[in-house]
Amino acid sequence: MVNNHYMFKQIKEMVIMLFGIATKKDDDWWIGVTALDTPHLSKYESLMFQGNGYLGIRGSLEEPYLNEKRDMFVLGTFDKFENEATELPNLPDIVNMEIQVNGKLLSLNHGETTDYQRGLNLRNGEIVRTFNWQSGKDKLHFEFRRFVSMANCHLFVSEVKITPLLENTRLQIKSGIDGQQTNSGTQHFIEANKRLFNARFVQMQTRTQNSLVKFALTEYHRLFLNTTELTLNPRLQLERRQIFANYSIEVEKGQCLTFVKYANVFASNDKDLQVNVSKDCLKQLEHVGREDYQKLLADSTRVWSEKIWHDSFVEISSHNNKPQIAVNYARYQLFANAPCDYSKNIGAKGMTGEGYKGHAFWDTEIFMMPFFMLNIPSYAHNLLIYRYLNLIGARRKAREGGYHGAQYPWEAAMPEDAESAPLWGSADIITGEPMKILSGETEIHVTSDVAFGVYQYIKNTGDYEFARRMGYEIILQCAKFWASRVTWNAEINQFEIIDVIGPDEYKEHASNNAFTNYMVHWCMKKGAEIITDLRQNDLMTYDKLDQKMDLSKLVKELIQKAAKLYLPQPNNDDIIAQDDNYLSYQKINVNKYRTSDNVSEIFRDFDLKQLDKLQVTKQADVMLLLLLFEDKFSKDVIKKNWDYYEPKTIHDSSLSFSTHAILANDIGLYNKAFEYFEKNCQIDLGTNMNSSVKGIHMAGLAGTWKVVIEGFGGVRTVKGQLHIQPHIPSTWNSLKYSIVWQGSKIDVSVTHKCFSVTSDGKIKFVYHGHVYNVEPEERILIGI
Ligand code: BGC
Ligand code: BGC
Repeated sequence: MVNNHYMFKQIKEMVIMLFGIATKKDDDWWIGVTALDTPHLSKYESLMFQGNGYLGIRGSLEEPYLNEKRDMFVLGTFDKFENEATELPNLPDIVNMEIQVNGKLLSLNHGETTDYQRGLNLRNGEIVRTFNWQSGKDKLHFEFRRFVSMANCHLFVSEVKITPLLENTRLQIKSGIDGQQTNSGTQHFIEANKRLFNARFVQMQTRTQNSLVKFALTEYHRLFLNTTELTLNPRLQLERRQIFANYSIEVEKGQCLTFVKYANVFASNDKDLQVNVSKDCLKQLEHVGREDYQKLLADSTRVWSEKIWHDSFVEISSHNNKPQIAVNYARYQLFANAPCDYSKNIGAKGMTGEGYKGHAFWDTEIFMMPFFMLNIPSYAHNLLIYRYLNLIGARRKAREGGYHGAQYPWEAAMPEDAESAPLWGSADIITGEPMKILSGETEIHVTSDVAFGVYQYIKNTGDYEFARRMGYEIILQCAKFWASRVTWNAEINQFEIIDVIGPDEYKEHASNNAFTNYMVHWCMKKGAEIITDLRQNDLMTYDKLDQKMDLSKLVKELIQKAAKLYLPQPNNDDIIAQDDNYLSYQKINVNKYRTSDNVSEIFRDFDLKQLDKLQVTKQADVMLLLLLFEDKFSKDVIKKNWDYYEPKTIHDSSLSFSTHAILANDIGLYNKAFEYFEKNCQIDLGTNMNSSVKGIHMAGLAGTWKVVIEGFGGVRTVKGQLHIQPHIPSTWNSLKYSIVWQGSKIDVSVTHKCFSVTSDGKIKFVYHGHVYNVEPEERILIGI
C-alpha cells in the first residue's frame, strides 16, 4: 500500500539523510523519519524498538496500518507447539490507539499530512512523533510520545496531545489490550479473562497454550483538557482476546487534549512477583498511574544516564556524525535488549522481531560479550549465569547424542532446553523441497564459543568468584564433551573432528574446519590447565568439581587429546585450509552475490549440496580464527589468508563485516577497514529496506562497537593481557572511549599522532610489545 502523497517529502533543514534513515546534524542521539513510509513499516518498527531487558516492543505506530507487525515480547517466556520450534510468544498489543476526528478515523493514508517527523531518542528510548493532519474542514496537530521504562521493567507509558487548529472537534479515542496478535499466524495464547477494575483499569489475564506461562496486562488512561484533568470513565468493549476502553470528548479549537496511557505486564515466571500476576499488575499500575508522563520518563532517563551512559562512553570526532550515531544506536539497542536477570539470554535479533524466534546463538559470547564485559560487566555476568543454568539442557544434548559433558545448543531458548534450532528451512531451488537445517546437529563450535566467552569474561573482569562457582564448571563440561567428540584417525595419527558446520554455514559436511578445531584445542587445553591449577591452588573448588566430573581422569584425557588434535597449519602458500576439502573445490566469481542487497541471493543459482563443493564462504570463518587467535599467526600469514578468503566471502551473515573491518585495520588495509566498518553500520541503519524486517541484528550492532573499540581503538585481550594498539580512520580527528578492565575504569584518547591512557586503578597494558604500568590517575601518553 503505497501512499506517495506524503512519502519522500522534502526533508527539513535540520534533518539530514546519513543512513537510510534521517539523522540530525547537531544531535548524535537521534534517528528518525520525516515521512510515513507505509510499504516499509516493518523496517522502522524494528529500528525504533523500545525495551528494557524484560519487555520489548517494536516501534509500530499507534493507529493501525496494513503490513504492520505489532510485536511485544517478555524475555524468557517461550512457548512451543508440537513439531515446531519453541519461540517467544507475541504478546497482546498495548500500543494501539484508534482516534476518530468528528467521526473520521485518523489514518495518514487519507487526508493531508504535513510536518511529519518521528524520531527515537537514543539516550532514553523515547519515541516522539509530530504532524498536522487535515481531513476536509478538520485540521489538527498531533504529538505522540512513548517509552518503555528502564526504571520499572513492567511499565510502558504513552501520551498523545491533540489540538484542533480550525474547528471545534469531537474526539473519540479507543485504546486497550489486543490479544489478536500472532507469531506469523500462530496464536500462543488461550482466550483471556478480561475485566475492568475500579471503573478505570482494564485488565487481561491469559496464558500461553503449552508452556503455561501466565500473563496479566493492565491499562489505565488519564485525560486532560489543557491542564485540567477530566474524570471520565471509559465505555468498555470486549471482543475475542481483546479489551478496549472508549472515550469521547468535545474539544474546542485551540484547546489541547492530552491522553495518557499507562500499561504494564507481569508474567508468572517474573523474579519480582509477590502475590500473582493479576494482583501485582493492578497494584503497580494504581500506584504508577498517579504520576505524570514526564515524571515517569524522567525516572527512566535517570537510569539510562546514571546506570548506563555513565559507564559506557565513546566519542568520535569526525567530518560527520555518522559513526557516532551508529555507535550510539548500537549501544542503545544492546542495552535495551540485555536481560535484566540471569535466567535469560539475548536472541540473535533481541526482542526486536520474530526473526530467529528469540533464540540465542554463539552471537552472544563471540560478538556481544566483549561489549558487555568491557562496559557494564554485570550484564555479561547475567548472560553467563544463564549459560550455567543451561548446563542442564547442554548436558542432556550431549547425552542424547551419545557424548559426555555438556554440548551447548546451537539455538538456545529456556535454560533447561537442549536444542531449539528448527529442523526445516526454505525450499531447495533444485528439488523444490524444504531444506533440512543441520545446524542444530552439527554446528557444534558453539560449545567452545561459550567456554571462550566464559574465560574472556574471567580474564577481563577478574571475577574469580564467578569462575569458582560456575565458570570453571562450564569450561570443564565443554572440554569433557570435546574429549568424547573428537575421533582418532589412524592414517594421520591424530584426533580430528569430522562432519561439522563451521562459521561458514555453506559447507554442511566439513571435516576439520580450522576454526572449530582451533577452538576445541583451546577448550581442551584450557580445561586441563584449569584442573591442574585448581589441584595446586584451590582444593575446595577442585573437590567440588571432582565429585561431578572425576577430574584426575579428565585431565589426562584432555592433555592427551589436545596434544594430538589435528590443527590445520598454513600450507606452502601460507593458506590455512578452511576445512579438509575447501581448497580443492571449484572457484566461481562471487561478485554479484557480494554486491547484492539481498542475503542468500546465491540460493537463486545453487542449492546447499552444490554450495558444499564451491570455494564460496558465507561469512568470516578462517578470518575469525585469525582474529581470535591473533597471537598464533604472523601478520604475513594473516595478510595472505585475507587475500585468499576475502574475495570468496559473500557476507551473507551480519557477523561477517566487523571481523573483516578489525582484521583489515590490523594488517594496514585502512581503507578496507573503514569500508567494512561503514558496511557494518549500515546492516540495519542503511538503505536496504528488507534486511531488518523481522528484527535488527544484535551481533551486527555489537560489531559496530567492536570495530570502534577493538579495531580502531585497538583493545584486545591476548593471553589474558590487555593490549591497546589504536589506529583511527583518516577521516576521524580523534576517538575517546572508556572500558572497564579488572574493576578499573580506563579512559583512552586517540588521535593520529598519539594516544593517552588514564585509569582509576593500577593497570598494565601492552603496546607494540612494551608493557606500560599505569598508576591510578596517572596519564600515559604514547606517540604513534
Ligand atoms: C541460520 C542458522 C539457523 C537457522 C534456523 C539459518 O538462517 O543460518 O544458523 O540455525 O537459520 O534458525
Ligand atoms: C549466521 C550464524 C548466526 C546466525 C544468527 C546466521 O545467518 O550464519 O553465524 O549465528 O545467523 O545470527
